[in-house]
Amino acid sequence: MAQQGWDVGILGATGMVGQQLVRRLAGHPWFRLTWLAASDRSAGRRFGDTRWLLADAMPDAVRDLVIERPIPGRAPHLVFSALDASAAVEIEPAFAAAGHVVVSNTRTHRLDADVPLLIPEVNADHLALIPLQRRRRAWPGAIVTNPNCSTVFLAMVLAACRRFGPRSALVTTLQAVSGAGYPGAASWDLLGNVVPFIDGEDEKIETETPKILGTLTAGGVVNHPVTISAQATRVPVVDGHTESISIGFDTTPSDADLAEAFTAFAGRPQALALPTAPRRPIVCRTEPDRPQPRLDVEQEDGMAVSVGRIRRCQVLDAKLVALGHNTVRGAAGAAILNAELLAAEGWLVDGVTPW
Ligand SMILES: NC(=O)c1ccc[n+]([C@@H]2O[C@H](COP(=O)([O-])OP(=O)(O)OC[C@H]3O[C@@H](n4cnc5c(N)ncnc54)[C@H](OP(=O)(O)O)[C@@H]3O)[C@@H](O)[C@H]2O)c1
Repeated sequence: MAQQGWDVGILGATGMVGQQLVRRLAGHPWFRLTWLAASDRSAGRRFGDTRWLLADAMPDAVRDLVIERPIPGRAPHLVFSALDASAAVEIEPAFAAAGHVVVSNTRTHRLDADVPLLIPEVNADHLALIPLQRRRRAWPGAIVTNPNCSTVFLAMVLAACRRFGPRSALVTTLQAVSGAGYPGAASWDLLGNVVPFIDGEDEKIETETPKILGTLTAGGVVNHPVTISAQATRVPVVDGHTESISIGFDTTPSDADLAEAFTAFAGRPQALALPTAPRRPIVCRTEPDRPQPRLDVEQEDGMAVSVGRIRRCQVLDAKLVALGHNTVRGAAGAAILNAELLAAEGWLVDGVTPW
């Protein structure tokens, strides 16, 4: 692996997730960001002249890149997509048809039967859907997706306790403002308030999770039988989605069993020592008032899910609180980890000599 590197591009580089991708790709040992694209509103502008939304300074290496239109063929082989979902409908398949590997944050193709919906610690084997995708769609490239941000955290929690047979889960989310992109919701709606509706979010959590936990067969993924009921809310927090989760199991674990399962949880990224793999994908907290977004969202550079308040549930079997960084583990960091897995497992065309 150390012998190769890959030039990469970003579709939707000017948005909330696009900028996290820019930030997190700076200095990456395998990927060098050389190409940026966004809508006609931004095309032709120098990236350094666009509005930068993050606290860390814009990386110097991208300041002079000129934002392009999202036209296939002009970009590097590997492109990250942080497009608005409606724009992704046509743009992502056009890139795959032109031979690009598209690592996407958008909801657009997540539930397609031949598209991996990937969390590398949970279902790295689902990358084997790529040959099926290429055959069915007759394209040389590929689309690989990461889940909705709230789905990632729930799915990692359920995967960690898979051996107890999770059969149902109730989840109420408290989602940060950065999850709505920029400029997102009006401050009038959010300040000092809780909004009990995020369009399409409940359904994404309920439908994506069984696919992620599903079993790969020759014909595709057979969904896991777990049933999910989700209620998403938006709260005035900057970064970090908190989730209140109750789980029913086939075999009820003790609180200690669950804590041990979360602490021991690891997968392919840790086995392969991928560059941005968290050492601990789930961090289990014992304090009675943790996890909290302000204190815990940056755990493992934003790549860990923090879990706490594990206890008996009087309705299902166990309940807990989970927290993850929505634009990192729930979006940009998830996509970069997916791309690292694609590179490590030989799904990318040969890269260039390291810079
Ligand atoms: N924010 C999160 O926590 C999060 C988490 C998981 C997944 N996602 C998903 O990731 C994607 C990006 O989210 P975001 O929060 O970064 O949204 P955002 O801030 O609204 O950014 C959207 C990006 O898409 C570009 N775009 C819009 N229409 C386009 C078009 N017709 N052609 C080319 N580019 C176009 C925008 O370019 P201009 O600046 O030029 O308009 C911008 O770069 C969405 O699909 C979202 O659902 C977001």
